[in-house]
Amino acid sequence: MEDIKAYVQQHKDRFINELIELLKIPSVSADTAYSQDVIDTADAVKESLSKAGCDFVEICDTPGYPIVYGEKIIDPNLPTVLVYGHYDVQPPDPMELWTSPPFEPVIKKTEIHPEGAIFARGACDDKGQMYMHVKALEYMVQNNTLPCNVKFMIEGEEEVGSKSLGWFVERNHEKLKNDVILISDTGMISNQQPSITTGLRGLSYVEVEVTGPNRDLHSGLYGGAVANPINILAKMIASLHDENNHITIPGFYDKVEELSLEERAEMAKAPFSLEKYKKALDLNDVYGEKGYVTNERNSIRPTLDVNGIWGGYQGEGAKTVIASKAFAKISMRLVPNQDWEEITELFVKHFTSIAPAGVTVKVTPHHGGQGYVTPIDSIGYKAANMAYTETFGVPAIPVRSGGSIPIVALFEKELKSKTILMGFGLDSDAIHSPNEHFGIFNYLKGIETIPLFYKYFVELSK
Ligand code: BES
Ligand code: MN
Ligand code: MN
Repeated sequence: MEDIKAYVQQHKDRFINELIELLKIPSVSADTAYSQDVIDTADAVKESLSKAGCDFVEICDTPGYPIVYGEKIIDPNLPTVLVYGHYDVQPPDPMELWTSPPFEPVIKKTEIHPEGAIFARGACDDKGQMYMHVKALEYMVQNNTLPCNVKFMIEGEEEVGSKSLGWFVERNHEKLKNDVILISDTGMISNQQPSITTGLRGLSYVEVEVTGPNRDLHSGLYGGAVANPINILAKMIASLHDENNHITIPGFYDKVEELSLEERAEMAKAPFSLEKYKKALDLNDVYGEKGYVTNERNSIRPTLDVNGIWGGYQGEGAKTVIASKAFAKISMRLVPNQDWEEITELFVKHFTSIAPAGVTVKVTPHHGGQGYVTPIDSIGYKAANMAYTETFGVPAIPVRSGGSIPIVALFEKELKSKTILMGFGLDSDAIHSPNEHFGIFNYLKGIETIPLFYKYFVELSK
């Protein structure tokens, strides 16, 4: 398909400008202050799907933010690709660390992106990657090369747990019927070495609250005589890992699938430089579970991390006080076979059991989801690999990612179809961080590669 290369070259400025317009709308799903912006973004996505050539588009209301649905059905006897993506983004904070405002996209060159990258919240996760699919559809419609049916389902609650999407999928089996689900919401190894994500971790996210006295106390008058909830919380959290960085919650590892030495040797073949990894993060060393290397610790092993912790006095100067309460937000990344609801229960049971007398503990589960692994001998995987091989000149490497897209396991359960994760982001793109960006090279390469996936998927399905 030389045509697609030419089409991308001819229209790239418009492709970039359209994405920039979409990135200007602050669709932060976690913060209700942005709710109108989230809804406006759904409208903008709907509009873009119509313009790109969908025959039917609609905004589907849900108990939460709307889902944008679009389709182009050319022949019911041909295969159907269902594209999933999300138009919501993470909160931009801490604002002061952005070198340009998060919702005023600008193109800047970086060492890794000499052609330039678009800096904005959501540039890579996931507006930029989602929009590659819209532009790939535009190309296929304009050039009469769409070889099968296509459906789009773009949601606005991915960053807060996809609650309404689960609700929607359960109620719309027929509408969403497909032969393969295609998602670009992950990464690849580098711009020279594409990879296909074959696994995602599951997730259990909880919030804990430790309460001591019924009010804040003078730390001189009461200090030493009552439990300090912040001291206790710190102690409790510290006890969740042992000296080998194993998680101490009883039963936590019971269902963890141990990979064979062969599988681990296979994983170790993916190019990785520990030195570069440390340098990129200004670390003097890495840290993690004993017995595993970095690329295993962040993909095939479960983890427990505090995402936020607060309580007591945080203002200027010193205030002598024992706070009444202390809080933390804790996430556990899970591997396939670990059930997130079971793990949440184990956490609640254990965390309440280790609370000493003198405090009370409340645990509130937020959201979660199952992990996912996909085989590499499916038609979908092969088609994706053929597409990457053609546009990058080298085959893709299968990689299990540490991130989570909980809805993928639910798709398999509800819609009985496999998901192919064709990600074009890089780990250095700073998703969820200040200065998130998406390489122009990656954006255009994605638009170029996607139509080839359709082509090969249909060929291999025959
Ligand atoms: N796109 C990410 C997940 C991701 C990124 C997977 C890179 C693999 C590689 C997604 O938007 C995300 O951030 N997911 C959340 C989970 C969700 C339930 C909030 C995550 O992984 O923290
Ligand atoms: Mn995402
Ligand atoms: Mn995300």
